[in-house]
Amino acid sequence: MRFICRPPGKKSQAVIRRDRRVMSPSLTREYSFVYQKAKGCHVWDMDGRRYLDFAAGVAVMGIGHTNPAVIKAVVQQAKRGYHCGFSDFYAELPVRFVEQLLTFLPKHLNAAFLSNSGTESIEAAYKLARWHTNRKWTIAFKPSFHGRTMGSLSLTNSKRVQRERFGPFMPVKHAPYPYCYRCPFGTSGHGGCSGQYLSQLESAIKSCNGDVAAVFFEPVAGEAGYIVPPKDFVKGMRKLCDEYGALLCDDEVQAGCYRTGKFLALEHFGVKADIVSMSKAIGGGIPLGATMANRKVMDWPPGSHANTFGGNLLACAAGIATLGYMRKKKLGRNAERVGKHMLRRLGVMKEQYDIIGDVRGLGLMIGAEIVKEKKTKRYGVQERQRILCAAAEKGLLLLPAGISSIRMCPPLIITKAQADYGLDMFEDSIRGV
Ligand SMILES: Cc1ncc(COP(=O)(O)O)c(C=O)c1O
Repeated sequence: MRFICRPPGKKSQAVIRRDRRVMSPSLTREYSFVYQKAKGCHVWDMDGRRYLDFAAGVAVMGIGHTNPAVIKAVVQQAKRGYHCGFSDFYAELPVRFVEQLLTFLPKHLNAAFLSNSGTESIEAAYKLARWHTNRKWTIAFKPSFHGRTMGSLSLTNSKRVQRERFGPFMPVKHAPYPYCYRCPFGTSGHGGCSGQYLSQLESAIKSCNGDVAAVFFEPVAGEAGYIVPPKDFVKGMRKLCDEYGALLCDDEVQAGCYRTGKFLALEHFGVKADIVSMSKAIGGGIPLGATMANRKVMDWPPGSHANTFGGNLLACAAGIATLGYMRKKKLGRNAERVGKHMLRRLGVMKEQYDIIGDVRGLGLMIGAEIVKEKKTKRYGVQERQRILCAAAEKGLLLLPAGISSIRMCPPLIITKAQADYGLDMFEDSIRGV
């Protein structure tokens, strides 16, 4: 059996063998970690090995694994019922969840469509934008990731394998995402290139001849490598949307729920969106998605969009407990404080090690781009893989992002001491490579 990184223990190996027999080969497994259980910021594999979790189930476990508040809420609700058929009947719990969610959001967002995942929350935004504007085209960015169902996949433009053979796509044009470390316009550093990126965006909008429904945007490009855009670009994009009558659709699936320190990552840029898509952390690990807009925008008629599981009672109970825990424990403040500390330490490492080309992030959404050498910025693809494997061997779970970046998105409850312990393992792994 071929393993990525070192072969795991016997019990893990047995699961991997069974998995390969029955599971779709389309899933990407970066190393041979087999989940057994988890608590707080730690996960254990099938052979009882403990890992510090800088992956958080791909930025889902913001409130930490097996959080008692979510367990209590889900168990209590399970005794009363799980599923009410919310697209056809009324129930109080989904209403309570949305009422609570609204207290975290800008006032103009006052209506919700509930679903079960990131891609569904984007599909709803996509359809709503087309319905409301009665226009055909949308603009997204390259690189970007918005999901893998056909509407959201049409917006996604990150890795080739994600789109190959799946066309034809919905009518979407892609403009370049502002990626300052690898600026194609020759301006290095943050912000110098916003004007050029905005003019590319405007050209894409203009080429649709007044038929643009929306611009879809990740406030921090997640899957593409945790890329933070310049503030003036985001403000300029909002202006262009207003000028051309396009809705701004903010994909907060990964960056939302205090991941970057603020509840919505877009708040960092002083900009408001017309439609906001959320998922991942919002259900505390239970599948939940929410698409938010103003009631005047969410004006589609009964039957135009619905689903079977949206408003699921267990998911809404988990969502209420998750939001309550985030507020009570001030997780946004912790993400900001620990994230700043991690970025500071990673900045020092960047000066020390030639294979760390760039370090960037907001709050606890932190990326380190691995290169062969700083001077040429050549992507360090194998080096990245070796670092991921070395870290896993030391007991640190990390995730790749983009061509050669490493993402760090630990649970938002992480302490400074835990973050330091993880960064020590990361630095050891860098040194080894
Ligand atoms: C920004 C962003 N949007 C959408 C999605 C799709 O979410 P899901 O995998 O839950 O469908 C993801 C998933 O990683 C994401 O990071």
